[in-house]
Amino acid sequence: MALFKLQINGRSYQTEAEPDTPLLWVLRDHLGLVGTKYGCGIAMCGACTVHLNGEATRSCVLPVSSIGTGKVTTIEGLSKNGDHPVQKAWDEIDVAQCGYCQAGQIMAAAALLKRNPKPSNEEIDASMSGNICRCGTYHRIREAVKVAATKPK
Ligand code: FES
Repeated sequence: MALFKLQINGRSYQTEAEPDTPLLWVLRDHLGLVGTKYGCGIAMCGACTVHLNGEATRSCVLPVSSIGTGKVTTIEGLSKNGDHPVQKAWDEIDVAQCGYCQAGQIMAAAALLKRNPKPSNEEIDASMSGNICRCGTYHRIREAVKVAATKPK
């Protein structure tokens, strides 16, 4: 076990963990940040997507020892009151069905709009294609990304 100091959602956290523990389990089991979901455990579905220094990252395969002073953002820290443009758009379009994949979808969409504020349909599809939705909400996800792109940041 080793002690890790992590910067998450603008706060400092400390936790002891095995160095190869995936960030996902540190978030969920050590720190109680359970908005980030376990889907496949092999970085193939996107349910565990968080931001590391603003980039969408699969937390299920990211060893806690690799984070260092990197800044992690989870769905809990994307906005103070659930009012990030992507969250507002998701609400407006009523994207979620069962909801399981949605924290990962929102984090992926927020990272996309940060690097590309006006993505085309093709760019949205290419960027979001690694985030699987078993309920098939893909049309609403695309629409919500486009709505989010029109909102003030
Ligand atoms: Fe059910 Fe995406 S809303 S898995």
